[in-house]
Amino acid sequence: MLQHFFGLFYLLAVSQLLSFTGSHADECPLQLNPQRVVVKYGGSVSVDCSTSVPHKGMGWEASEGPVPMTRDSLTTWRVPELREWGIETTCFMNYNKTQCTVYLPVTIYKTPDSVSISTVNHNGPMMERNQYELQCDVLNVAPVQNLTVNWYKGQTLVDQTIFTDTIKTPVNKTSKLLIRPDRADDGAQYWCEAKLELGEEGPQPPPTAPSEHLSITVYFKPIINEAKLPSIVPVFRGYPVVIVCEAEGNPKPTISWSVNTNNIVYSETLTITDSTPEDLHCIASNSVGITIRRVKVSKQGKSLNYILSFAAAFALLLIIIALLIYVWKKKQSTGSYRSQ
Ligand SMILES: *[C@@H]1O[C@H](CO)[C@@H](O)[C@H](O)[C@H]1NC(C)=O
Ligand SMILES: *[C@@H]1O[C@H](CO)[C@@H](O)[C@H](O)[C@H]1NC(C)=O
Ligand SMILES: *[C@@H]1O[C@H](CO)[C@@H](O)[C@H](O)[C@H]1NC(C)=O
Repeated sequence: MLQHFFGLFYLLAVSQLLSFTGSHADECPLQLNPQRVVVKYGGSVSVDCSTSVPHKGMGWEASEGPVPMTRDSLTTWRVPELREWGIETTCFMNYNKTQCTVYLPVTIYKTPDSVSISTVNHNGPMMERNQYELQCDVLNVAPVQNLTVNWYKGQTLVDQTIFTDTIKTPVNKTSKLLIRPDRADDGAQYWCEAKLELGEEGPQPPPTAPSEHLSITVYFKPIINEAKLPSIVPVFRGYPVVIVCEAEGNPKPTISWSVNTNNIVYSETLTITDSTPEDLHCIASNSVGITIRRVKVSKQGKSLNYILSFAAAFALLLIIIALLIYVWKKKQSTGSYRSQ
């Protein structure tokens, strides 16, 4: 009993569904080919509207290129140069005592007049780790809803901007990118690209317009190469040592050695002798800043010659001792031989 009830309910539900879809289908039996169009501003467009049912007349209602009513089963809307941004187009048919219509979605697009890149409120070189803003200006593009601005650093996509405005006429749009460059970015090329993604009906591949490349210069404070310059340099009397201070930086650093208050040596290399003071400073400077490294000269009290002669004397002493032991042992062994 209950099963019958549910069965009936099911049949009712299905018939309801069928009648709904059925009535929807014969609401307006018109076919558009293509079903939607994407056309370049000023381009040509042509869409067929057809039916397979008897009717009392069909045609196109359009703000540009309307087509008067015909008794044929096919009517074509055709505009050789479409220049109306907000165009509204429908195919209609007088059918079964009423008029039914089918709407044709039309997207008119226009590629930008220009795409340009610039730095916001800044000119010239950038300082490492500071923040800067880049700007991409896209002029006269439509529809903005299908516009994407891609940001590139070299060949790498670094950011993307999409727009949600629904305006159909051409607009100017700006996208911004914040960057915090480091020294490795010196010479990096930034650029942006406007892309109109208009879907399957649109042009393939999607039209793109790139900006110029913006090459950035990144300045940074000198960094002294510590691997090549130890903080303590041992020096033996009579043996001068050459030490080198190398530094990286942008702009290229100037390198000098401060030997004492009134002796500055403008050179990367410095020769240390007995008379060099113990405290030295390598000074690397550029327009960004100054980096200083202190180097201590450790003078070995005795000269190398002295140490060498001391070592030689010590070696001689060892040989003499060894000789004496040998002679003494030999004497002892001959002595014992005699005693036997
Ligand atoms: C016209 O519409 C009526 C009711 O809406 C429907 O019964 C009839 O079948 C339709 N005629 C045609 C030719 O589709
Ligand atoms: C876009 O910018 C250009 C140049 O600055 C200007 O001539 C034009 O009127 C602008 N268009 C719109 C829609 O604001
Ligand atoms: C382009 O914009 C339209 C609205 O104008 C939107 O319906 C459509 O999905 C967009 N196409 C793509 C490929 O993003």
